Amino acid sequence: MYPKDSVALVTGAATGIGYATALAFAKAGCRVVVSDRDAKRGEQAAEAIRAISPGSIFVACDVAVPEQVAALHRKIADTFGRLDAACNNAGIEGEQAPTADCTLENFDRVIGINLRGLFLCMKEQLKMMAPQKRGAIVNLASVAGLVGFAGLPAYCASKGGVVQLTKGAALEYAEANVRVNAVCPGAIKTEMIDRITHQDPATEQAFNALHPMMRMGTVQEVADTIVFLCSPQASFITGQALAVDGGMVAR
Ligand SMILES: NC(=O)c1ccc[n+]([C@@H]2O[C@H](COP(=O)([O-])OP(=O)(O)OC[C@H]3O[C@@H](n4cnc5c(N)ncnc54)[C@H](O)[C@@H]3O)[C@@H](O)[C@H]2O)c1
Repeated sequence: MYPKDSVALVTGAATGIGYATALAFAKAGCRVVVSDRDAKRGEQAAEAIRAISPGSIFVACDVAVPEQVAALHRKIADTFGRLDAACNNAGIEGEQAPTADCTLENFDRVIGINLRGLFLCMKEQLKMMAPQKRGAIVNLASVAGLVGFAGLPAYCASKGGVVQLTKGAALEYAEANVRVNAVCPGAIKTEMIDRITHQDPATEQAFNALHPMMRMGTVQEVADTIVFLCSPQASFITGQALAVDGGMVAR
């Protein structure tokens, strides 16, 4: 599926969607750069991924810190001399409160990671991929970047911003053969969703019912979509914000 020696980066890859995506890249034959701000869990994740793809490495990086983002991409250039696929997945949900009660601190923290951090990563990736005349980026947006959700103003704003950053970059780098897409998952059963539902059965049932398919998605369903969008099989797809949401935004 992926050409031999391909290198794929996943940020926020210690757990959840990022970990599943890193595993899926490894199974598709890529050497994976597993990155996360949590070094302990990130190293553990990379250990499991190396069992499938031995050339894979872990690099600690908080995407909100420009120096760390620059160092991460320098490490990729020094180690592999190439970057074929990048999944900008690191993100947080922030605190739940209606807009008037959303603190400036929460707003800045969520935007700083989900939007500014993703922008910093994408800048570095585009600088590496454009001269190669090859590469694919998938950004983690959300259905919350396509339609409104009450109680998560900073998160919605950050994910709407990710969709637009994606489309603009896709246009800018199309001629350089660098594709840029976003995925917009519905609710996917991860630690993030558990923090929001508190694993309360009634709340989980309400989350299931948000989707016409009457269930939440799995990390595998999102990971498979990301690995497809970065693969040569998706070679004419760029600038898309693809919902992976059991039909939620089709209503
Ligand atoms: N789970 C969902 O329902 C859902 C739905 C739509 C979109 N998303 C998006 O998918 C992405 C992954 O979500 P998840 O549910 O797997 O989350 P999660 O909280 O389960 O895992 C997130 C991972 O990102 C890492 N991380 C957080 N901030 C970071 C930072 N500043 N720098 C580097 N790493 C950082 C964490 O350490 C963790 O390993 C996020 O961008 C999220 O907004 C999730």
